Amino acid sequence: MKTKEKLPQESSTLLVPEVYDVPQHVAVIMDGNGRWATQRHLPRMAGHERGVAALKGVVEGCARHGVKALTVFAFSSENWRRPEEEVSFLMNLFLLALEREVRALRANGVQLRIIGDLSAFSAKLQRAIEKAQATTKENTGLRLTVAVNYGGRWDLLAAVRKMLDANPDLARSGAAIDEESLAPHLCLSDLPEPDLFIRTGGEKRVSNFMLWQLAYAELYFTDTLWPDFDEEALEAAFASYRQRERRFGRTSEQVVTARTCG
Ligand code: IPE
Ligand code: IPE
Ligand code: MG
Repeated sequence: MKTKEKLPQESSTLLVPEVYDVPQHVAVIMDGNGRWATQRHLPRMAGHERGVAALKGVVEGCARHGVKALTVFAFSSENWRRPEEEVSFLMNLFLLALEREVRALRANGVQLRIIGDLSAFSAKLQRAIEKAQATTKENTGLRLTVAVNYGGRWDLLAAVRKMLDANPDLARSGAAIDEESLAPHLCLSDLPEPDLFIRTGGEKRVSNFMLWQLAYAELYFTDTLWPDFDEEALEAAFASYRQRERRFGRTSEQVVTARTCG
């Protein structure tokens, strides 16, 4: 049996991570579904439906290019502020997509994981999430994480609570708290930090996504609306990534020396 490849998890602030031509971990804010639909005089919901199709293409593209992990933002902790009709449509779509796509994910070796505060979801949706995760658990290909009812601040606060539950002494000795005590309690602590962050839809903000983990990610913003984000658009993001000099605090000269001297 093929064993699961262990991915390096070093902190980008504690040491300089290895850099590859292809990002190991890609994080995406899939934005612009509503505008895509409005431009076509369609209800916003049509844009969300097309958004699921775009995600399927990006999952395939990432797997083909050798990306190890893909994390996508599907519903933020702030998206509850949307009209009730849209929120319930999105919940339904999420349930349908889970039920419909899990077989293909399993067949393609994709390991699916959902992160976020799942307690807000219906029992039915929670069961579907558990089932989909269990079905793809043994897969050794692309690690696909979907963030729903997720927020970077929620992640950080939950991690602090878990850290203190695991080690109550730390509550009395704040000075003893360091990255290594907190980081293991954050979501996705078993994956390398994202190398490339993509946001479609033209906005240039992180909207409370992976605030800790994006510390040294290369940021890529495109006006392309998420339903239009196809293979070519993904390749353009990868091409931009390849041009970046990832310095992690060093000088350009140091980067060049490290590259030529191994
Ligand atoms: C992203 O598209 C999907 C979700 C946030 C659920 P939007 O729905 O935000 O699309 P725009 O930004 O209104 O075009
Ligand atoms: C961010 O998109 C969240 C998701 C894509 C799920 P939004 O469209 O909700 O972000 P803001 O509100 O414009 O910052
Ligand atoms: Mg939006």
